[in-house]
Amino acid sequence: MNPTLRAASQPKLSLAARPKRSRAREGLLALPPPRVRGGMPLYSALAQRRSTREFSDRPLTPQVLSTLLWAAYGVNRDSGERTAPYWRHVMVIEVYVAMADGVWLFEPQGRMLIAHLPNDIRVATGTQEFAGTAPLDLIYVAHGERMSGLSLVERRLYASVDAAFIGQNVYLCCAAEGLGTVFRGAIDYRALTRALQLPREQFVTFAQTVGYPREGT
Ligand SMILES: Cc1cc2nc3c(=O)[nH]c(=O)nc-3n(C[C@H](O)[C@H](O)[C@H](O)COP(=O)(O)O)c2cc1C
Repeated sequence: MNPTLRAASQPKLSLAARPKRSRAREGLLALPPPRVRGGMPLYSALAQRRSTREFSDRPLTPQVLSTLLWAAYGVNRDSGERTAPYWRHVMVIEVYVAMADGVWLFEPQGRMLIAHLPNDIRVATGTQEFAGTAPLDLIYVAHGERMSGLSLVERRLYASVDAAFIGQNVYLCCAAEGLGTVFRGAIDYRALTRALQLPREQFVTFAQTVGYPREGT
């Protein structure tokens, strides 16, 4: 279990339909199976891909959230490999999911969310006016300690590339699902690191807002 789990004060899932209670264990939330076939053809998704900065407060269903996280950095082979490539076969990035009722850590192997914090930190994920207006912010956190032998600049470079691949997966999934998204570096990194209560060796690379576009945008 992740050492950062705050079992005593777990966030509640703020989604429209919650997964069945029997599937939720202490501090863990099983996600429904993601959609791994069909959907919008790739070239149509590429044609639709864009950044969105105006969101409605319509929540994502657990099914859509599961598909989004699978597309982002889920397991797509029996070997445990992921939907996005990553530096030197070392998994450096973890995807945190910030929602109204707390922060969760995506655990792709078990296809679950692990409770991390009970706080709504969405506003702290960005410095732009729309920060906190969408139901979901993904935060791509790097484990610096897994990149031993590299300078800080190199660590940030490779971690950023890993995060960017995940970000593009999210863009394409959002296009296919009718969701809006924007990959973001306009972040008060010190404030977000504090809000996330990250250990010293971990650092935020980028964040990505996800939600349904506001009508008329
Ligand atoms: C590394 C990177 C950082 C970005 N940071 C921000 C950001 O902080 N805020 C924002 O609104 N958009 C951000 N964007 C999104 C770009 O502004 C956007 O992709 C670009 O303007 C092209 O628009 P499009 O995505 O709609 O094609 C970022 C994109 C990248 C690749």
